[in-house]
Amino acid sequence: MTYPDSDRKDAATHIVADLGGSMRLTVIGCGYLGAVHAAAMASIGHEVVGIDVDPRKIDALSRGEAPFFEPDLEDLLAGGVASGRLSFTTDMSQAAGSRVHFIAVGTPQQQGGYAADLTYVNGAVDALLPYLRPGDVVAGKSTVPVGTAAELAPRIEATGAALVWNPEFLREGWAVKDTVEPDRLVVGLGHSSGADPAAVTGTDAAALLREVYHPAVAAGTPFIVTDWSTAELVKVAANAFLATKISFINAMAEIAEVTGADVTQLADAIGHDVRIGRRFLGAGIGFGGGCLPKDIRAFSARAEELGRGESVAFLREVDAINLRRRDRAVELVVQAFGGSVFEKRVAVLGAAFKPFSDDIRDSPALDVAVRLRGLGADVVVTDPAAIDNARRVHPQLTYITDRDEAIRDADAVVLVTEWDEYRRQLSPEHASSLTAGRIIVDGRNGLDAAAWRAAGWTYFGMGRP
Ligand SMILES: NC(=O)c1ccc[n+]([C@@H]2O[C@H](COP(=O)([O-])OP(=O)(O)OC[C@H]3O[C@@H](n4cnc5c(N)ncnc54)[C@H](O)[C@@H]3O)[C@@H](O)[C@H]2O)c1
Repeated sequence: MTYPDSDRKDAATHIVADLGGSMRLTVIGCGYLGAVHAAAMASIGHEVVGIDVDPRKIDALSRGEAPFFEPDLEDLLAGGVASGRLSFTTDMSQAAGSRVHFIAVGTPQQQGGYAADLTYVNGAVDALLPYLRPGDVVAGKSTVPVGTAAELAPRIEATGAALVWNPEFLREGWAVKDTVEPDRLVVGLGHSSGADPAAVTGTDAAALLREVYHPAVAAGTPFIVTDWSTAELVKVAANAFLATKISFINAMAEIAEVTGADVTQLADAIGHDVRIGRRFLGAGIGFGGGCLPKDIRAFSARAEELGRGESVAFLREVDAINLRRRDRAVELVVQAFGGSVFEKRVAVLGAAFKPFSDDIRDSPALDVAVRLRGLGADVVVTDPAAIDNARRVHPQLTYITDRDEAIRDADAVVLVTEWDEYRRQLSPEHASSLTAGRIIVDGRNGLDAAAWRAAGWTYFGMGRP
């Protein structure tokens, strides 16, 4: 079922006139997604209240400080709080009076299973119900298994409010830009009765969401109005595709390793084909973070429940290939030392799952560091942003913030997060002046192998001779 958006033009005009272009919004869940969303919505003129159950996060946000590292977020927060348009609270009653309530709480992998844990989504919705008024719109942004909106809807509709699913595609490290200038907006509509939701609820939710995102809509951003299931699936399908692309090139890296081929040249060559494209064809230690790994697992679990497990059975393989690349990086370090890393000093460059983020959830970088330490290496981890988070989860590792101090006297250097500080700004000559050994393992294929070899280093890449 899809809803042609053109039918709603008149209603949209009416709402815009009523609201004068700005409205009061609630954002429930102020983590990597929600805090950015709240700040971005305030920056385009809305009055936004961000609500979270974590008082430490709310304290920091209320001072205009970002509780995590995300480029440009702090400026946006500080500006929003100073303007009076952006506030944060742990008190759900402050949601009362908002026209749209965004749900941005976490949907982590369940303990002991692959499915998504919807405890936080259910908890947030239940806590919000007493404050909903007829005409309000609840807009789910969290990534959820298909069918979740249909499960949640009856409770929300009983208050006279409408439910839409409005998945989020932001990339950590680019979250502010991606929120203010999204490459597309997707709004899934529905009603548990199966009838046209606007007719039943009297609220044109698609028009309201167009008004929320007015600058992006005015700039011509594709605005796709669809049904709940499609909107839910768009998000997991996008992540499944991206994960598959990464694991595809990593599978090619595995073949390259036994044939003497170079996967980076292979990626360049196939990437020139516009049907394929070079992006997301970087072979290395694979993907991680708070989204891709848990999203492909939750998709597999949901497909099994729907009796269509075989349709996405390849995602198990995508996951397996991805995890094998971490083994391979560890194996390369061990091989470099002739079979044992015991008491070897290894500098690990990176802890975050990707550069420009302090997110260490399911970080392949940190996983490699932990495994090397488990094999008896004397591991020193450095990262420009993620050390505090990494230390909390893995206090057994040694952390040094200063890159040069971290590599001083190292027997080997292992690049696992492609921050510019390591990939572009660390020359082999400079590294040589600090380290004890000359072994470099490039877990992201981000370094100039020839330059490192020319400077006397033994270079190991992923899927490269
Ligand atoms: N991080 C990303 O890059 C990204 C991108 C797109 C989609 N998503 C999706 O967005 C959702 C949130 O992800 P995240 O990375 O921001 O997670 P996160 O863990 O950083 O943030 C979730 C927040 O929700 C809060 N919370 C939990 N229960 C609550 C409740 N009942 N009321 C209010 N707050 C509550 C937590 O305290 C936490 O601050 C997930 O579904 C994720 O898959 C994330």
